[in-house]
Amino acid sequence: MWKGRFTQDTSSLVQQFGESVSYDWRLFPHDIAGSIAHARAQKHAGFLTDEEFSAIENGLLAIRKDIEDGNFEFKTSLEDIHMNIEAELTRRIGPAGAKLHTARSRNDQVATDTRLYCRAQVDSLVESMKNLQRALLDRADVYADTVMPGYTHLQRGQPVTAGHHFLAYVEMLDRDVSRLLDARKRLNISPLGSGALAGSTINLDRHAIAQELGFDGVTTNSMDAIADRDYIAEIIFVIALCGVHLSRLSEDLILWCSAEFSFAHLADAHTTGSSLMPQKKNPDVCELTRGKTGRLMGNLVAILTAIKGLPLTYNRDLQEDKEPLFDSIDTLHLALTVNTEMILAMTMRVDHCAAAAADPMLLATDLADYLVKKGVPFRHAHELVGKAVAEAIASKTPLDKLDLTKISEHYRNDTAEIFQLSRALKARTNPGCPNPEIVRQQISRWQAQLA
Ligand code: ARG
Repeated sequence: MWKGRFTQDTSSLVQQFGESVSYDWRLFPHDIAGSIAHARAQKHAGFLTDEEFSAIENGLLAIRKDIEDGNFEFKTSLEDIHMNIEAELTRRIGPAGAKLHTARSRNDQVATDTRLYCRAQVDSLVESMKNLQRALLDRADVYADTVMPGYTHLQRGQPVTAGHHFLAYVEMLDRDVSRLLDARKRLNISPLGSGALAGSTINLDRHAIAQELGFDGVTTNSMDAIADRDYIAEIIFVIALCGVHLSRLSEDLILWCSAEFSFAHLADAHTTGSSLMPQKKNPDVCELTRGKTGRLMGNLVAILTAIKGLPLTYNRDLQEDKEPLFDSIDTLHLALTVNTEMILAMTMRVDHCAAAAADPMLLATDLADYLVKKGVPFRHAHELVGKAVAEAIASKTPLDKLDLTKISEHYRNDTAEIFQLSRALKARTNPGCPNPEIVRQQISRWQAQLA
């Protein structure tokens, strides 16, 4: 492709070191779409005859079919997907193929291909995220009234419902979806026509090319367009953060499935046994999700580090953008899909959740609120309840069975209802609270949104 000024062939070690076709082959449908749009603009500008354009278009479509059917041999000697396709086109159709690269560089070509690839992947990741939201919503609906302890510091805090807990993850995923869609707006502009870095003296209609490829517009600075990999970093970041969300969900499920919590069951199909201990049922999907998140975060560091020291514009370091991108996309895709299947099939152990939530200590804060409603300043109320808690622990008496009137004159004989869980949840009437009625409203809202 550059033999004019060289007297030696590229060393085979350099070929091995520099090839990207072993992984960037997957850009092929986008590379072909970009080349057809580019060729059409060449035809309109008078650089290709109708016959030459048709030969290029049909040749590229035939190559696409061969790749799809597994009948295409990629050559590492041709470095990347762009050169593999172009060389094969020229081999098949002759001189017209050699005209295709007019007014184009691999630099604007690869930027175009990866933007198109990212756009398609964003759309399918959004669908996968929504499917997981739907699965979580399904469980939230089934367990909307299942009372369980909510935790801070992994210590029992206050009562919540399983429905509320599941919906917390629906919210996280909603932010992930919106971050992806936001990144999509910025990436969906066409860099084609930016050339190697400074455009071209052969002026093709950039807007027509962009329109054909479904871009919303064209980039406005050729140097930035060539050097920009922000859209890749953004997507890898959103994926890493979504991975962090899935990892937290995994951790909750791992705890819930332990004998110590026994709040949930995962289906046999989504757990594994031990080769040694016959009784084991391990939450491997959760552990793998948590473990793979480390790699998603590593990919973010890799892409940011690859970009940070680069002078404008293209540097070969930028070829290192693809493996972390592909790996993050593939990993998250599978993680979302398997987690969706697992969540849909999991069950809550409602009785164990209820037994844990029956601990009257979970309503110590409600008792302080009771005193506040009787005019006691909160700090003082906190202390009075703290004393009652200490007394309950010392006398091994449940908090709701103490004679509180002996602790302070502010306590009357009407504290029994404070310890009713259903009252406690219903008393929370503000938006966002685990009041089953409010949770039901949220479930309906999400059902409509995700329908
Ligand atoms: N395979 C290359 C990459 O992914 C394509 C661009 C090559 N450009 C160049 N000037 N060597 O970055």
